[in-house]
Amino acid sequence: MSEQTLSNLLKEDRRFEPPADLAEHANLTAEAYERADADYEAFWAEQAGRLSWETPFERVLDWDDAPFAKWFVGGRINAAYNCVDRHVEAGHGDRVALHFVGEPVDDTRDLTYAQLKDEVSQAANALTALGVETGDRVAIYMPMIPEAVIAMLACARIGAPHTVVFGGFSSDALATRLADCKAKAIVTADGGYRRGAPSALKPAVDEARAKAASNGHDVSKVLVVQRTGQDLETWDDDVDVWWHDAVGSASTEHACEFFDAEHPLFVMYTSGTTGKPKGILHTTGGYLTGSAYTHWAVFDLKPETDVYWCTADIGWITGHSYITYGPMANGATQVLYEGTPDSPERGRWWDIIEKYGVTLFYTAPTAIRSFMKQGREIPDGRDLSSLRLLGSVGEPINPEAYVWYRHVIGADKTPVVDTWWQTETGSIMISPLPGVTHGKPGSAMIPIPGISAEVVDDEGNPVPDGSGGLLVLTKPWPSMLRTIYGDDERYVDTYWSRFRKQGYYFAGDGAKKDTDGDLWVLGRVDDVMNVSGHRLSTTEIESALVSHPKVAEAAVVGAQDEDTGQAVCAFVILTDEAGDGGKDIVEDLRNHVRKEIGPIAKPRQVMVVAELPKTRSGKIMRRLLKDVAENREVGDVTTLADSSVMDLISKGSKASS
Ligand code: PRX
Repeated sequence: MSEQTLSNLLKEDRRFEPPADLAEHANLTAEAYERADADYEAFWAEQAGRLSWETPFERVLDWDDAPFAKWFVGGRINAAYNCVDRHVEAGHGDRVALHFVGEPVDDTRDLTYAQLKDEVSQAANALTALGVETGDRVAIYMPMIPEAVIAMLACARIGAPHTVVFGGFSSDALATRLADCKAKAIVTADGGYRRGAPSALKPAVDEARAKAASNGHDVSKVLVVQRTGQDLETWDDDVDVWWHDAVGSASTEHACEFFDAEHPLFVMYTSGTTGKPKGILHTTGGYLTGSAYTHWAVFDLKPETDVYWCTADIGWITGHSYITYGPMANGATQVLYEGTPDSPERGRWWDIIEKYGVTLFYTAPTAIRSFMKQGREIPDGRDLSSLRLLGSVGEPINPEAYVWYRHVIGADKTPVVDTWWQTETGSIMISPLPGVTHGKPGSAMIPIPGISAEVVDDEGNPVPDGSGGLLVLTKPWPSMLRTIYGDDERYVDTYWSRFRKQGYYFAGDGAKKDTDGDLWVLGRVDDVMNVSGHRLSTTEIESALVSHPKVAEAAVVGAQDEDTGQAVCAFVILTDEAGDGGKDIVEDLRNHVRKEIGPIAKPRQVMVVAELPKTRSGKIMRRLLKDVAENREVGDVTTLADSSVMDLISKGSKASS
């Protein structure tokens, strides 16, 4: 974000007070900040108390081996029991847990908590029968259908950590993740519905399984949900099993086992600054405490009356914490939607809100910006009066989008909670509390009670109000990642080495404190991009480009983009043999990245160049490439080994645009 945009942002003076009725009945009030400050461990013990523990914990936090944390030491718990069984036992079995909305119109199904208990138990029995044991990893590669949530909970029930891989990722991406966590089994579907047509998933699983096998890792079983009924080219009777056979025939009785609070719950891969995705490890007691508490506090959930909808995919952390675990631990009723916002037509999301009377809605700025473009007539044609709170996540929300969201979708009465967090933090860290904090368009405001954040300079000193620096979390928190799967050293290096002396967690984001002390998260300060709220690594895309036979070298930058926040822009040098690459080279390379990683990584722009700007030590100066990609005057080139390189690139880019 440019300094100019930033100073505009910091002049933002619109304020929206919490609605009086919400404030009066809010789940969390202002005194919670003081209570959490006064005794932070007691505050978290109280939050853990919203869960059902088989054996109570003896100690809240063990930080003796920092930065390796243990929360709720000695406690034993089962996440699936907390998300399902206990609601049935409390007499809420008839409450709808999921209003499933398939992409084909009228393909809907409601599942109550009692039904969910049966299905999760069946799936747990089936996984066990397939040889999955406590501690084994299970990959889940699914469309957004109830079985995806059921599979996650079934894994949790038997203590087999899941790793959900976004269904939009390629077979290569899936293969890397399978091999990294040595998944024993995969749960998938024949396909899902996307923009009105069946879209296959199983062939990618077959390919990924073969690739993982050639890297020395065999996946023993693949459990396949029949969603679309499309033809499957390959079926291996030794490995592939239909969900409706294995789960359908299993018993609905399953006595769940309870695990240590620190038992691994899942591994979620996310992009880091190197080409290799990081497997972020979350454990049971702390993660569930964080996701349940924040969902209750930030969304002001009233489980008896609210209908909640989070539009994220379960392949991302938002889907984990704010579809599967947080809401279900709280006994919420929620919508689960399979498809895209504009299928079969642009008003689909608003139809769903109207039909189910959605009260709490959580989505990403990129979606809001695309609705803004389509015009307010579309939502205006629907009754959205049930909404009482709107949430935003994944990237900074620009004030225009915030105000439009509140005004057009929320009829100017709903608070907007801009929630900052990460795969690593497990749950929301910085957000307004809807009954307490006034709304300030574009600001995530302050850390929620129990969380301590700061904006610091390079030395780790807090910056004064009105200035910017690096965002850090100054105290451990229950839903923090425990490590990077299989790589403790990378965990320490990535998050805890920058401010080792102070013991701060470095989030990788830049932020500003305004003159009121409120926080404005500005985006990544490392080589990580944020495209439509999805995290992508520049290095990962560069590796994908270099794997193309015609590419000798590549540099990727995230350039500002009106629709997607940032967009992938690639600069490539072709090999000598490739000559000029041929007339389709740009399209070929864009599609190559799409195939290697997935559609979200497809570059907006590929520029073929003769040289890349490098320092004398050979480091690519991405800052300069970013200037070109954003059509700006190129900045200081004095540290370049050859300063004429930028002239060539700038001229080339003007000629090709
Ligand atoms: O840069 C921040 C941005 O998304 C990054 C985390 O990405 P991921 O782990 O994929 O999790 C996304 C969903 C929680 C952060 O480092 N980010 C996330 N939420 C916000 C945000 N940036 C600004 N404002 C937010 N509300």
